[in-house]
Amino acid sequence: MLKKILILSGSPKKAGNTAQLVKWFRQGAKAKGAQVEVVNTAFLKYKSTGCTSCRQCQKIEKYECVINDEAKPVLAKMAFVDVIVMATPLYFYSASAQLKLIMDRMFSLYKWDNLADTMATPLSGKTFVLLASAFEDIGLDTLEKSFAITADYSGMKFQSLLVPDAGESGEIKKVKGARKKAIELGKKVA
Ligand SMILES: Cc1cc2nc3c(=O)[nH]c(=O)nc-3n(C[C@H](O)[C@H](O)[C@H](O)COP(=O)(O)O)c2cc1C
Repeated sequence: MLKKILILSGSPKKAGNTAQLVKWFRQGAKAKGAQVEVVNTAFLKYKSTGCTSCRQCQKIEKYECVINDEAKPVLAKMAFVDVIVMATPLYFYSASAQLKLIMDRMFSLYKWDNLADTMATPLSGKTFVLLASAFEDIGLDTLEKSFAITADYSGMKFQSLLVPDAGESGEIKKVKGARKKAIELGKKVA
């Protein structure tokens, strides 16, 4: 079965290092025949600044965010793909705010029953991939850990590619091995 891959890219730079990482990863995945969709979360039109913690998603049956904006169908789609990829530049040792705007709304992809002490999510069984670029190799491990914990909590397999030494836009092309590793990871998860 050909894999469906959804890539959420969180850089405000349309042709920066994160975009390049996504391009290489996509190239690898497409070579294996995967169906790949890329959404740049920096350019969606939002009705809220991230998750409002309204908890309305917990009162409906569907795994959907109740906020009606351009992020809503993207979030809903996450439940129906095989692989979810999040690509981000390292911003103050964490993911970019542009990515977090949508990531926190993944709250709608879980149903918690506090009385029964249970959690259900359609994310279970999928693969979660983190692609990240940074100026230096400080904090990428912290970023990776938060994504790995999220994957583990959700029952998803986790893969990552962290690329330091990419400061200026396009500098990632000069980082030895980055292109190959990104293409290979795309092939691996496809
Ligand atoms: C707001 C901001 C915060 C950043 N914080 C860090 C940081 O904490 N550590 C780091 O190594 N690089 C940091 N950088 C550099 C970017 O992570 C790096 O240049 C990245 O490759 C940019 O990707 P892009 O071209 O897709 O925007 C920061 C850049 C910006 C604009």
